[in-house]
Amino acid sequence: MVRHLTKISDFTKKECDFIIHKAIEMKKTPEKFYATLQHKTMLMIFEKPSLRTRVSFETGLNQLGGHAIYYSIKDSPLGKKENIADTARCASRYVDIIGARVFKRQDVWNLAQYSDVPVINMLDDFAHPCQILCDFQTILEKKGRLENLKLSYFGDAYNNVTYDLMRIAAIYGLEMDVACPTGGEYSPEQGVLNEIAKLSEKSDAKVRVVHDALEAAKESDVLYTDSWMSYGIPFDQEEARKKVFMPFQVNQKVLSSAKTDAIFMNCLPAMRGYEQTAEVIDGPQSIVFDQAENRLHAQKAIILFLLNKL
Ligand code: CP
Ligand code: NVA
Repeated sequence: MVRHLTKISDFTKKECDFIIHKAIEMKKTPEKFYATLQHKTMLMIFEKPSLRTRVSFETGLNQLGGHAIYYSIKDSPLGKKENIADTARCASRYVDIIGARVFKRQDVWNLAQYSDVPVINMLDDFAHPCQILCDFQTILEKKGRLENLKLSYFGDAYNNVTYDLMRIAAIYGLEMDVACPTGGEYSPEQGVLNEIAKLSEKSDAKVRVVHDALEAAKESDVLYTDSWMSYGIPFDQEEARKKVFMPFQVNQKVLSSAKTDAIFMNCLPAMRGYEQTAEVIDGPQSIVFDQAENRLHAQKAIILFLLNKL
């Protein structure tokens, strides 16, 4: 059966653990894996911009002996003369694995439904699973454990990265506070809250939505934030969003309310003075560039896992 990665909960805890440990091994001894994807090709469909995702996937494929094709939706007949099902059926006759960064979750689901090869969600409006596996690899490297942790998230919670962070916190049985403004356009969708409740039944996770940044930061081991202006949000909303989210900015006061050895994470891109201050992101508790590096290692492990090469 072909496996896909559309959101982090497509994988079990055991599978996440396996991939994270493989990623750490691949980071230490990359040469052991140099020939694993010889003559294999990945198609990467992009509808939104990217630095980290595009460059880390292309580099990763190259390091494994394979090849990645960057394919912009702007250059494709998709949505004009062709539907996503035909794109998936044709592309999977050529390539071994497909990645997609698109606006709508339904497009990733349709690709997965019609593709004969694994499909990886490289970010849509519902999930960013590659980011989240890299984040957990980084937390394990920094904290030495993935249990008994409190995570806190600040800012825009109607958000792909937030959703997958909540899912993985629920999968691992962690405590997590999501601090966001009130109002449906800034808080998690009910469907996601239902998913989290279901996942938490098994793991005994405690994932809460709160509306106070200091309360969320309290006793936290990991503070995480993401852009207030996710890809696709119109620029004319920037000033209004800045006002709404400012009480959830990760600044020194928020960071100081967490545990003294807490780490600060941001999937990037980041705007200093917006979702966090420069003092925080450029300060000693920030691990954002180690986090960004791990995209490369985690994604190499994800691809090999989906292609049954591990
Ligand atoms: N974190 C992340 O996905 O970055 P890019 O948008 O640059 O790919
Ligand atoms: N929430 C952000 C994540 C960027 C990696 C966005 O969708 O733009």
